[in-house]
Amino acid sequence: MGPDAIEDRPSGITISVGRQRYRVLVAEGLLKQLGPRMGQHFSSRTCAIVTDSNVAPLFAGRARQSLISASLKPTLITIPPGEKSKTLKQAGAICEQMNAAGLDRQSFVIGLGGGVIGDISGFVAAIYHRGIHHVQIPTTLLAMVDSSIGGKNGVNTDHGKNLLGTIHHPILVMDDINVLKTLPGREFNQGFAEVIKHAIIADARMFDVLQTWKASETHVLQSLVRRNVELKFKIVGKDERDQTGERALLNFGHTVGHAIERAGDYRKFLHGEALSLGIVAACAISTKRAGLPARQRDTIVSLLQRFELPTCLPKNFPRNKIISAVKFDKKFERGKIRFVVTPGIGSAHLSHEVTMRDIREAVKQL
Ligand SMILES: NC(=O)c1ccc[n+]([C@@H]2O[C@H](COP(=O)([O-])OP(=O)(O)OC[C@H]3O[C@@H](n4cnc5c(N)ncnc54)[C@H](O)[C@@H]3O)[C@@H](O)[C@H]2O)c1
Ligand SMILES: [Zn+2]
Repeated sequence: MGPDAIEDRPSGITISVGRQRYRVLVAEGLLKQLGPRMGQHFSSRTCAIVTDSNVAPLFAGRARQSLISASLKPTLITIPPGEKSKTLKQAGAICEQMNAAGLDRQSFVIGLGGGVIGDISGFVAAIYHRGIHHVQIPTTLLAMVDSSIGGKNGVNTDHGKNLLGTIHHPILVMDDINVLKTLPGREFNQGFAEVIKHAIIADARMFDVLQTWKASETHVLQSLVRRNVELKFKIVGKDERDQTGERALLNFGHTVGHAIERAGDYRKFLHGEALSLGIVAACAISTKRAGLPARQRDTIVSLLQRFELPTCLPKNFPRNKIISAVKFDKKFERGKIRFVVTPGIGSAHLSHEVTMRDIREAVKQL
């Protein structure tokens, strides 16, 4: 089931998925409204706030107080930050803490944090007592514009990332723009790689806005977040379960991007940074295979640089590892790969014409 309708009002965006309707609120200062809003949504008093130890000292106190003031009974569950926490073991430990705190079938889980917290709290919500309600409060730009949307959750295994998970849509998403103020610069900028990706594949006007946006313009940032939520929903809505190829357009830049992340042992580059490099490679391939004008390719590279995102690899980076990772990741059919290309800023399609040689050349140029 994909979202059947999106309704955009000043107070938020309403998404309909099958029989479920839920809202994505985008505004400044939403965190302090948490208690009253949860009071409106739920009859149950008990809930868990799942967060990480970077985010907890910044926002968990405020979230907890707001819930307590609205007569709710929150249990705060804090896990170590970062990807290493996205495990089945950690999900089990969270469930046990919820059991110990007396959460039941009517209780709900609030994920307060970046994509790691969104993914693991969503997974816990999906399996606890066979599924309870989930509320997302994303605190990174990447989580607001990408991971909190679409209902996918999950944990990693020794064999790879996100290999266990479900699709379990949240009942409410609250994007409080103010929480982004404490985000380290590198984390903030990596979120823009996904925003730029959305602009390239679906919104030329947003691409123009990004070229002149200044960090002080909070109201523009707010409308950018809203626009990205809408864009991702529109694409996911056409293909919730990755079946028609529509959702695959969101993978623009990711074939090479993921390979770069892997080749750097997930330490050298953040996801958005690797994506930035993957976008540059995808543009080179698009120039060759989809007629992307060279001037537009250069404009895209300049926009990535405007957000301090990398557009070339360090000289000594093991490029051969990138190629092995691409081969490992993707299935080739008679030497060709399903690859997302852009013929011009604002549109994208799948190409079956891209060869391993094209990818090798593009990586060499990085
Ligand atoms: N479910 C999906 O559809 C989907 C899509 C894209 C990515 N993801 C997942 O998202 C995860 C990455 O998300 P992320 O980049 O948000 O990483 P993250 O959750 O690790 O957050 C990045 C860092 O920022 C810190 N942080 C978060 N908010 C902060 C704030 N407001 N101020 C200061 N520090 C803050 C965190 O503690 C962490 O150290 C990956 O696990 C990825 O697989 C999921
Ligand atoms: Zn991504």
